[in-house]
This record gives sequence, structure tokens and C-alpha cells, in this order.
Amino acid sequence: MGTGGIFITLEGADGCGKSTQAELIAGALEAAGKELVRLREPGGTPISEKIRALLLDPANVEMVPEAELMLYEASRAQLTREVIEPALARGAVVLCDRYYDSTYAYQAGGRGIDDVLVRRANALGSCGRMPDRTLVFDLEPSVAFARATAGGADRMEAEGLAFQERVRAAYLRLAEQEPNRVRLVDASGEKDAVLARALDALSDLVDVCA
Ligand code: TYD
Repeated sequence: MGTGGIFITLEGADGCGKSTQAELIAGALEAAGKELVRLREPGGTPISEKIRALLLDPANVEMVPEAELMLYEASRAQLTREVIEPALARGAVVLCDRYYDSTYAYQAGGRGIDDVLVRRANALGSCGRMPDRTLVFDLEPSVAFARATAGGADRMEAEGLAFQERVRAAYLRLAEQEPNRVRLVDASGEKDAVLARALDALSDLVDVCA
């Protein structure tokens, strides 16, 4: 990639505990003295946050899968050019909560949009920028779903458990297809145990300890 930065993305179905782990991983990276840029998708720039509001608003029931796909990609392209590329260019560690593997899992896996189309859309939305490492937090879908919807559901979560099961299956396929980049992290058990597994899956890239 020709930069000194490291691009790490965190993935998983709704309710897998990813946000808690993002916090803990960020702490470990900062403690290791890295310049850290933390982001989440969709969002992270003023334009991307406006797109996020459209995407997650439960009132937008009429949104068609093709519009949804392109809105996620639009949000991503803006974030990539405006924030991720400059951060990597100055050598930062970029930790992004979701990136294009979410689009594969949710829009191809969950919604059933053609895989090849989604991969091409991802190439465009990411401006060709690939993560160096992607951690997929894997948890039994019924456990994750119950946790995710305990306080009410956003537009994606309202799709239900069968949708989340397809999302998970798509993540498992990705981990099989790209074992170097995409690592499954068992997200069951105590949060410190999950963190240790996550840091282990980063240890060849960055010097961090739990
Ligand atoms: P968010 O509240 O940020 O969920 P989480 O904390 O689980 O990351 O909502 C993001 C939702 O958008 C989540 O349900 C996953 C979905 N999503 C897609 O469907 N496609 C995508 O490309 C991205 C980035 C997210």
C-alpha cells in the first residue's frame, strides 16, 4: 500500500459485542503508543453521518436494497478519501468499526444482492483501499440478536433473526476465502477473554498486549 499506516476493521453481526471490543482494542493500541484514528461505518464525516441517519432511520421502510447498497458505499467513499487515506499516509493506525465486509455480509448475504455486484460496488466505495486485517466477532446469532434488540431495533435490526443468520454465514465464508486478512474471533465468554483473542489476531501486525 506504500504507507506506514495500518488499517484494521472490526466486523460481526448485530449484538456480537464489537463496540465493547472496539473500545478495549483502542485502549490497547493507544497504550502501545500508536497514533490511533477511530472510526465507525456508516459515518465518520459530516456527509457520511447524514447518510447514516438515512440508512438507520426505522421510518425509511420503503428503501430498496439497491439504494441501501449505494448509500453505504457513498458514505464509505467519503470516509475513505476524507479521513482514512490521509491518516494512513501519516502513519496512523486506523481502527474502523465496520467497512466493506459489512456490505458483503448484509447486502449480499442478508439482502441477497448478487455477490459479484456487491464486490464491485465495494471496490468503488472503498476507493480500492483494503484493510490490512479484519476481525470478525463471531457469536451464536440468537444470543447476539437478543442482545442487539433488547433496547429496540434500528432499520437493519428490524429484519429479524433469519437475516442475522445469513449475515453470519456470509462472514464465515469471507473468513474462509481470505484467511490472511479476515480472522474469526470467538466472541463468547468474558470480555477480557475476547479481547485477548482479538489482540492475538493482531499480534503479527502491531505490538500490543492485553
Ligand atoms: P450500528 O448501530 O453502527 O451497528 P453496530 O453497532 O452493530 O455496528 O448500525 C450499523 C448497521 O448498518 C448494522 O446493522 C450493520 C449495517 N450495515 C450494513 O448493512 N452494510 C454496511 O455496509 C455497513 C457498514 C453497515
